Amino acid sequence: MLQDKRILLILTGGIAAYKGLDLIRRLRERGAAVTPVLTRAAEQFITPLSVSALAGEKVYRELFDLTDEAEMGHIQLSRSADLIVVAPATADILAKMAQGRADDLASTLLLATDTPVMVAPAMNVRMWTHAATRRNRDQLIADGITFVGPNDGDMACGEFGPGRMAEPLDIVAAIEAHFAPGPLTGRHVLITSGPTHEPIDPVRYIANRSSGAQGTAIANALLRLGARVTFVTGPADIAPPQGADVIAVETAREMQDAVTQALPADAAVFAAAVADWRVASASDSKLKKSAYGLPVLTFAENPDILAQVAQMQDGRPGLVIGFAAETDDVIANATAKRARKGCDWIVANDVSPATGIMGGAENAVTLISADGADPWPRMAKDDVATRLAGRIADALS
Ligand code: C5P
Repeated sequence: MLQDKRILLILTGGIAAYKGLDLIRRLRERGAAVTPVLTRAAEQFITPLSVSALAGEKVYRELFDLTDEAEMGHIQLSRSADLIVVAPATADILAKMAQGRADDLASTLLLATDTPVMVAPAMNVRMWTHAATRRNRDQLIADGITFVGPNDGDMACGEFGPGRMAEPLDIVAAIEAHFAPGPLTGRHVLITSGPTHEPIDPVRYIANRSSGAQGTAIANALLRLGARVTFVTGPADIAPPQGADVIAVETAREMQDAVTQALPADAAVFAAAVADWRVASASDSKLKKSAYGLPVLTFAENPDILAQVAQMQDGRPGLVIGFAAETDDVIANATAKRARKGCDWIVANDVSPATGIMGGAENAVTLISADGADPWPRMAKDDVATRLAGRIADALS
C-alpha cells in the first residue's frame, strides 16, 4: 500500500514515543521508506540506535550538524518526503508549529516545507484540553495540518481522558487514506486565487478586498481528491493549501507569467480577483506630496488571464472555469461573461453587501455551463469548494 512512499517521521518527547517504534515497523512492512527525526526530548524516551535499527536509516537529530547539512540540508530533508508525520506530537511541538517557530531540527523541518503534515498528538489530558492547545490545534487545522487522534483512555500519568496517542495501526490507516488514489489522481489543476496588487510607487498600490478564501478552499478540495495542484496566489493573509505547488505573485502581469509557466493543466480554475487595470504611470520612486500636489494616475488595461487561457489554440486545459462576482442581473451578466471569455463554466455569485458573501464564510453560487444555469443553495465556502471539486472530477473522468 505504501510502496515507494517516503515518510519523514518526527518523534517528539513523550512516553508514547515507544509506540513510534511500532509505527516505524508497520510503515516499513507496507513498503514505506521512513526517515526518522528525533528531538532532544524524544531521546529521553527512546534511543537513536533502536530508531535507526528499525527504520534502516540514519536518525537525524541536530539542526547544526554540518555533516548532515553537507549531505542533504534540512530544507532538502523535509522536501524530499511525500508526507511528514509527527508521532507522538507533544503540546510543545504543536505550539511551535502554530507559531511558526524554528529553534531545533524538528521545528525547522516543519517550517521549511510545503509537504503535507500529519500529527498524532500525545499528552496529558489537561494539556490537551487547555485553551492554549485548543487554539493551537484550531490554527493548525486552518493551516491544513491533518490530525489523527488523540484517543480517550488511561494515560501513563494515571489520569483518564483524551490525550492518548492514536494506535500505530490507526496512524498507518490515516497515512494510507492520505495516499489512496482519488478521482483526480494523476490530474493537474491550476488555480489562481486572491487579489492582485498594482503598484502606484514603491510604497503604494491598488488592491481589492479578495481574501483568497474561496480559491484556497477549492485547492484543498481538489487536493483531497488526489489532484496535483498549482496554486498561483496574489498577496493574501490566509495560509496557502498544504501540498500544492504555491506560486506567490503580486501583479496581474506576474500572475499571467506564472499561469503560462504552470501550464499544461487538465483543468484551470480562475478564482483570483485580478485588477482590471494597472497604473501605467507607476513611479520608481515614492511620489512626494510637495512635488506633485494631487497626483493624477493614468491606467493601462491588464491582461485578461482567464480569457487568454480559455481562448488558447494549443494546449488549452480541457476544462476552464471562471468566476463572476456580480451585484446586478447576476445570471444574465455571468452568462454573457462565459460567452465573452470563452470559458467552459462560470461560477457566478451575488456580492451585493446585503448578501454578506464578500469576506464571509458562506457563498451562494450558480454554476453556468453550456447546459444553462444551475443554482446551488447557500452553503459554507468549503462546501462550495467540495461540490465544485466533485463536478470537476466528474467532468474529467
Ligand atoms: O471580467 P471579470 O473580472 O468580471 O471576470 C472575472 C473572471 O475573470 C474571474 O474568473 C477572474 O479570475 C478572471 N480574470 C482574469 N484576469 C483578469 C480579470 C479577470 O483571469 N485580468
